[in-house]
Amino acid sequence: MSHDVAAIILAAGKGTRMCSPTPKVLHKVAGRSLLHHSLGAVTELNYTKKIIAVLGENMRQVEAELTSVVKDAVCVIQREQLGTGHAVKVAESALDDFEGIVFVLYADTPFITQETLLRMLHRFDVSNTLAAVVLGFRPENPGEYGRLIAGSHGDLDAIVEYKDASSDERKITLCNSGVIAVRSNLLSGFLHDLDNDNAKGEYYLTDIIEIARENGYSCAYEECAEQEVMGINSQAERAVAEAIQQKRLRQQHMENGVTLIAPETVYFAMDTQIASGVVIHPNVVFGTNVVIEAGVEIKSFSHIEGAVIGKNASVGPYARLRPGADIGEACKIGNFVEIKKSKIGKETKISHLTYIGDADIGEDVNIGAGTVTCNYDGYDKHKTTIEKGVFIGSNSSLVAPVTIGKGAMVAAGSTIIKDVKSDSVAYNKMKQKEKSGRAVEFRKEKGGK
Ligand code: UD1
Ligand code: MG
Repeated sequence: MSHDVAAIILAAGKGTRMCSPTPKVLHKVAGRSLLHHSLGAVTELNYTKKIIAVLGENMRQVEAELTSVVKDAVCVIQREQLGTGHAVKVAESALDDFEGIVFVLYADTPFITQETLLRMLHRFDVSNTLAAVVLGFRPENPGEYGRLIAGSHGDLDAIVEYKDASSDERKITLCNSGVIAVRSNLLSGFLHDLDNDNAKGEYYLTDIIEIARENGYSCAYEECAEQEVMGINSQAERAVAEAIQQKRLRQQHMENGVTLIAPETVYFAMDTQIASGVVIHPNVVFGTNVVIEAGVEIKSFSHIEGAVIGKNASVGPYARLRPGADIGEACKIGNFVEIKKSKIGKETKISHLTYIGDADIGEDVNIGAGTVTCNYDGYDKHKTTIEKGVFIGSNSSLVAPVTIGKGAMVAAGSTIIKDVKSDSVAYNKMKQKEKSGRAVEFRKEKGGK
């Protein structure tokens, strides 16, 4: 038996402890927002039919992120944060005629897994009287988490918030993660019965357990590891989550056959795609949206984002590939080379000290040290086209828009302001002058030998 699933993601909190103008759930771990992470497990479930996020006022950016992750997600606004129960109440109307299991998740809890949600879901398969399943965990330091009051046979009798708990209840080590699954047809009745007569004066979602039991239903709990339900409330906690996630990504890439010479110094994004056999030297950072094909070698101190690196290419040390860099097969991109929004044909060499932006470069081109595509006039970006087999001498400025025809050569130190025909040599006339013996005089003037 399988149930349809709807998820209510709570994200109305201001996240003041982040001390940041960015809404908490838009802070990133491995290049992906906390909100996106927290939606991962539930959106992967085949049973999920509906995603509803509860946001505070003025959270347009959060709304935009939500719909970029889940196109048809619904946002509801909770104007005043009167508690987790109130937040779910606000979301309730957006459930419409949904029938199945409603999961309540927190948007600042990035590591929840699909397996855990499935374990919770499967509990409903075996009992018709089960109203809710709560996800519990046993933290190293139970602190002020709500405590699960377990009954017999894995049943759950109640959840007691720390502030309302007796000293005996506070000794319980089984804590509430906040993740709850509830039958949709019972939810609104339970929410209706909530009150805020408690230590915090809030509508606690956790009270629905006792309400369910008073109405003759049973409740249950599942347990998971602490790390899976870690919440992010501060910059320091975000950094802990980042470290955990980077460790996992390094492990995954190594299991996929990527050689990381010093894994602890390489930083990945969640979506980094690297073929097996690729070698990555120490101190390389990947931003989002990178694809690296087989046989590539990335040398130290390179920063790569939004780029595709074709088979057998070599990049770095000290290379910077920015969004839209499309590096062809067997290219060599050397030190202090920056490439943005440019396609580089196969076997082309850009070995040293170069800026390539908004360019289309053909195969088998050699770009000399210090070449700059002058792509920006202060207002607009312009394109540079360099055709197959071109040789650009060192320290040349290519003032876009400009095309260098197939097989042409540009002399070192040229400033190219108009198109160069195929197989021509382009150069700027600069007569070299020489004063015989002037160097000797100069040294004398300076008092040297
Ligand atoms: C909650 C649980 C507690 C559990 C803990 C786990 C309740 C009453 N308590 O406590 O048992 O151990 O989480 O972290 O549920 N939110 C809203 N609107 C609100 C209130 C909260 O959207 O009106 C959101 C917050 O942004 C946050 C989440 O709900 O993402 C949890 O709220 P928080 O205030 O942190 O709950 P806790 O007191 O920590
Ligand atoms: Mg909390």
